[in-house]
Amino acid sequence: MSQGLLQLTDIVAGYGDVMALHGVSLAVRDGSVTALLGSNGAGKSTLLKTAAGILTPRRGEIAFDGAAIAGKRASERVERGIVLIPEGRLIFPEMSVEENLRVGAFAPHARPHVARGLERAYALFPRLAERRRQSGGTLSGGEQQMLALGRGLMAEPRLLLLDEPTLGLAPLIAQSIFTVIERLRADGLTILLAEQDARRTLAIADYGYVLESGTGVMEGSGAELLADPKINSAYLGL
Ligand SMILES: Nc1ncnc2c1ncn2[C@@H]1O[C@H](COP(=O)(O)OP(=O)(O)OP(=O)(O)O)[C@@H](O)[C@H]1O
Ligand SMILES: [Mg+2]
Repeated sequence: MSQGLLQLTDIVAGYGDVMALHGVSLAVRDGSVTALLGSNGAGKSTLLKTAAGILTPRRGEIAFDGAAIAGKRASERVERGIVLIPEGRLIFPEMSVEENLRVGAFAPHARPHVARGLERAYALFPRLAERRRQSGGTLSGGEQQMLALGRGLMAEPRLLLLDEPTLGLAPLIAQSIFTVIERLRADGLTILLAEQDARRTLAIADYGYVLESGTGVMEGSGAELLADPKINSAYLGL
């Protein structure tokens, strides 16, 4: 695949002496939804954390918009527009919905755009608008995921790194999250989406990568991967 907005090359990364990624390369094309698939422990979150700068790779290169960023801190990457919405949401339970959203705009480049960000978050998620004064901890799981997404958008991202946004959600809510992801792409956002729900993810993804035990084992368009018998047996249970 040609150069992307985000390009990871030969990434080796892990925790202490134990490596979780063993030389993974991946490109996220500008304006695309790119899927990152793989079962539990495959290395999806590790890869997203590496792209976000939360984890420093042992080896490999990371380019964003043509600039080498492997040595840049996480905060600098947020400034450049790389925003991670981590697994498990991590919202602030004592703070109201609106306060949680405002926290998302902490980066200097995002601060002037708080009003616009709130408007956008509430337009995407009318449920959050209705609950703007409610504390985050009292939201349902699906609403908390909406809040985590809304908060990430407040940082004015160019590239959204989404870690299993539909995990544990009822099918209908999960579907609405996928619909929002498609709307964000239509608005020009680029998205790297780690998911275990291969079928739904590939249905909306432009391109996808499959990780297995920290190694890239397959890549292709959403349609290609969906049609692949190996994907079918390993990830779709067909
Ligand atoms: N903080 C950590 N310390 C040590 N090892 C870790 C840590 N986080 C992850 N690992 C290990 O790294 C490997 C990859 O984990 P990772 O979280 O990236 O997988 P994943 O694909 O996101 O899985 P899941 O679908 O369950 O979220 C696993 O073997 C895991 O045990
Ligand atoms: Mg994970």
